[in-house]
Amino acid sequence: PVLVVDFGAQYAQLIARRVREANVYSEIVPHTISAEEVAARNPAGIVLSGGPSSVYEPGSPDLDPGILQLGVPVMGICYGFQVMAKQLGGEVAKTGRREYGATPMTVHGDGGALLDGQPEAQTTWMSHGDSVSKAPEGFAVLASTADTPVAAFASDERRLYGVQWHPEVKHSEFGQRVLENFLHRAAGIPGDWNSGNVIAEQVERIRAQVGSARVICGLSGGVDSAVAAAIVHEAVGDQLVCVFVDHGLLRADERRQVEEDYVAATGIRLVTVDARQQFMDALAGVTDPEQKRKIIGREFIRTFENAAEALVLEAQGEGEKVEFLVQGTLYPDVVESGGGTGTANIKSHHNVGGLPDDLQFQLVEPLRTLFKDEVRAIGRELGLPEPIVARQPFPGPGLGIRIIGEVTEHRLEILRHADAIAREELTAAGLDGEIWQCPVVLLADVRSVGVQGDGRTYGHPIVLRPVSSEDAMTADWTRLPYDVLARISNRITNEVAEVNRVVLDVTSKPPGTIEWE
Ligand code: XMP
Repeated sequence: PVLVVDFGAQYAQLIARRVREANVYSEIVPHTISAEEVAARNPAGIVLSGGPSSVYEPGSPDLDPGILQLGVPVMGICYGFQVMAKQLGGEVAKTGRREYGATPMTVHGDGGALLDGQPEAQTTWMSHGDSVSKAPEGFAVLASTADTPVAAFASDERRLYGVQWHPEVKHSEFGQRVLENFLHRAAGIPGDWNSGNVIAEQVERIRAQVGSARVICGLSGGVDSAVAAAIVHEAVGDQLVCVFVDHGLLRADERRQVEEDYVAATGIRLVTVDARQQFMDALAGVTDPEQKRKIIGREFIRTFENAAEALVLEAQGEGEKVEFLVQGTLYPDVVESGGGTGTANIKSHHNVGGLPDDLQFQLVEPLRTLFKDEVRAIGRELGLPEPIVARQPFPGPGLGIRIIGEVTEHRLEILRHADAIAREELTAAGLDGEIWQCPVVLLADVRSVGVQGDGRTYGHPIVLRPVSSEDAMTADWTRLPYDVLARISNRITNEVAEVNRVVLDVTSKPPGTIEWE
């Protein structure tokens, strides 16, 4: 792999993704990794990420100096560039000249392997206070800006490279080219990593892990569990059984898409548990958001456990054993849980298909090394239905946390209808790619006066909550075109009985969360 050394900003994940976009497999490692550990992983190249610190601050994150002596090609970015300069005998200075944002840069000479063939004048994205004031002995200076004399350096001989700017950021005009030059030309790594390879590799790994045992997977209707199950099915066929719990809090058409379209595309054996009444009963009279989440989580695990137990018994009857459970864990979860910093419990999230503590299964996690966009690419490669592959995030507790007030069958019908209209219009307007997700929320305990036809109405408001985000940790409200908002509003107020008002949520996260509960 190419190792991306994380110096503590959010940049490492982005770099890892860009490396993969160059069809080279990448993994993120902490900056505390030792040279021996690096050597043991036999990397084809190393990229040092940016970070928020200054290399001269006491306690600032450092790098085992042995890493630069391994003979592995290295490219440092921003803070990583400065760490390299310092370790290799160059100089880093507090110039007092901060560069931030789009910055004009001049490439010197032919640019070497890193900047070869690029225009002399270009725009790069900068974000730094300190600067490299002197390149290490034997290194060529490849570029400079008005305030930064050494904006990039290289030693083709030692295969060590560094850039002050952020090539992983789209605002850097030739950023991806710089990364590709480093990977393919300087480090000589072929770009042969793609979704087809990933599937083949995972299929082999799963077969070795699972042998002839049986496997269970909980499907949520979302993309992660759908793709995870499809890969496992490629590997072990009907040793896999999927369980889909209909808790009654799904959106319009979701159950049908799983039961019909997904099953037709994959040939997977599916057991649907219709638990709608059970969830309705458990939620009766409950209005507190955390209470709702806990009840839904609890009922879900109960239902899933019962279904799993039935499958275990069925297998026993046939002289077989169920030993494995599929989880759609993604790479960012793996990286973030390895980070180990505690975060405040804002909401008690739960994932549909989450592992009940006392079920004794081993985990099969075919997506553990993948980012979301890669999971979608693999889903398409496997021929899964587009509505599932392209599905935006949808919370485990479903529409239950989008009805403000008690959840009832009737209110669910209202919300499902309004949500279907909003989704239909956003898709028709070609906006799915721009929006991270758009919760549609029913304020069931609020009424307002309206007029329709000749009569007074006294109905409920529907809230649209379109957000743009990279990872759901922070988000901004999406500036949807007025005509699209108007169409959604007209249709919802005309077509959905009991809704007489549509309002738009214009709050970023923070301070608002994406969901209302
Ligand atoms: P918030 O509302 O915390 O949501 O800003 C962040 C992201 O998480 C989703 N979400 C959930 N996903 N189980 C899930 O699988 C949950 O309980 C849950 N609650 C919120 C939310 O839709 C958004 O994408």
